[in-house]
Amino acid sequence: EDEPDVTWLGTPISELRRMPECGQRLPPLRDCPGQHTVLIRTDLLQRGLAPIPYPSTFKDAWDNIHVKMPCSKMNLFPVLNEETRERSSQSRWELIQDTLRMKYTSSQDLKNSILKYNVAHSKRWDFTAWHSYCTKVLEPDAAQHLFDSLLPDMVQLALRASELCTKPIPLLKEGEECSITLSQEQVACLLANAFFCTFPRRNSRKSDYANYPDINFYRLFEGASSRKIEKLKTLMYYFESVTESMPTGLVTFTRKMLDSPPDWKSSGSPLTRLHITCEGTIEDDGYGMLQVDFANQFVGGGVTSSGLVQEEIRFLINPELIVSRLFTEALGHDECLIITGTEQYSTYTGYSQSYKWGGCHQDSLPRDAWQRRCTEIVAIDALQFRSFLEQFHPDKIDRELNKAYCGFGRPGEKSEHLSAVATGNWGCGVFGGDTRLKALLQMLAAAQASRDLVYFTFGDAQLMTDVHKMHSFLTEKGSCVGDVYKLLLQYHHSVCRTCWTSRPDVSLYTFIYQHLGPSPSPSRSLSPSPPP
Ligand code: AR6
Repeated sequence: EDEPDVTWLGTPISELRRMPECGQRLPPLRDCPGQHTVLIRTDLLQRGLAPIPYPSTFKDAWDNIHVKMPCSKMNLFPVLNEETRERSSQSRWELIQDTLRMKYTSSQDLKNSILKYNVAHSKRWDFTAWHSYCTKVLEPDAAQHLFDSLLPDMVQLALRASELCTKPIPLLKEGEECSITLSQEQVACLLANAFFCTFPRRNSRKSDYANYPDINFYRLFEGASSRKIEKLKTLMYYFESVTESMPTGLVTFTRKMLDSPPDWKSSGSPLTRLHITCEGTIEDDGYGMLQVDFANQFVGGGVTSSGLVQEEIRFLINPELIVSRLFTEALGHDECLIITGTEQYSTYTGYSQSYKWGGCHQDSLPRDAWQRRCTEIVAIDALQFRSFLEQFHPDKIDRELNKAYCGFGRPGEKSEHLSAVATGNWGCGVFGGDTRLKALLQMLAAAQASRDLVYFTFGDAQLMTDVHKMHSFLTEKGSCVGDVYKLLLQYHHSVCRTCWTSRPDVSLYTFIYQHLGPSPSPSRSLSPSPPP
């Protein structure tokens, strides 16, 4: 039917909205206690100048609603005087400072340092990947540079924590809507601390932070996998880049909740426009659009350990995303995390097993009035399915629709100011979802949010054709969100519920074509005979 060289279908991508062109003027950036914590002097914010931390001196907070900082006075470790048998506490930050300010000559030195202030883990933490990176991957002069220059620069950056991150960083807790804006320099400082594994209470999921992602990088150094080496290359390049020339922008992290889910059944929202392509990626071709992160409920998934698919790759090439793991509690079903302003430092080739660091990337996207790169990423975690049929259950359909709508919807903003959503096979890789169902669900969520959709099928030309055909069919039928939703329920009721094999014998799309009948004007944009 379609020409073999067709690589996209639907509305030309050039007709769809992107930031900053489509956006509205931002209000002035202001700290708003309880709603938006801004860690810099907003009155002195100026393009190209290093943002000034606020307040001017370190304000300590060691409680359940803020990040416990490594430089806190309360970050203590117990010592036992061998002679007097007396127990006392010492400052862990002093130990960290003394330890990290050494001269580095081999890969072993970093390991020894990190273990000195993480004694409890010295038996368990493994530095095999770090060791091969230093000795087998880097050329001798590059290794020399690492020990003489890069590591000391990273240490300096990490140890400026009490000077750079002076305001307590609130935890973004489940059920609370809140934003945090930091400078890229503050983010870099926090990430340097994560690299040196200095964040207290964050080395096991047992304690206070059981429902938070890992932030200390200890698992990045472990194991013999070549994928770890490529991760290390990508992250070390980030540290190289920021220590050479510190970026001067800001990044905002927003935890958002759906206060009341849409009434999907009675929604009369018409479908929005679709551009679908089997080429390109969300990050390259979806610039300026709302870019979907196929997330884990613990944002960043396995980025600091072994995962290496869409989310982890995005967090590696835009490492400022990783700092979200410091303060973002696991996402609830009706929540998402929106990250605005991260910069891309690296390129990559391959995917998963074949992932390779591809060298430096010069991010040339414009900055908004808050000095943030015009890159908006939304972390939404799909459900993981073990059986194919499970995902057609109305409860699961609702959950995924609400999750996507939470990510896409911007109540109170006019649709002409909203960029298109750039997405793809959300939940359909590691999480095992069905692409045709997920594409339809994202179409409905985008329609409900009055946003156009750009869908990257990641090389799947058949999927491109099928989803486009369905979108054109529904559009020509004049079907609205509620109509399609009701068909989904009907499909579950009459096909899935009574199905005793692992896959239903009538596919969702076939069912929809059968139930809505032939297209009213098949000659216009559809193939001469619509599917049965
Ligand atoms: N642009 C467009 N599409 C892509 C891209 C890209 N850059 N990369 C991959 N795809 P997956 P999930 C397509 O498995 O199933 C992580 O560990 C490609 O077809 O990453 O939601 C998270 O932390 C791929 O198969 O997403 C979660 O734990 C598909 O998108 C878990 O994976 C799905 O990518 C989420 O798994």
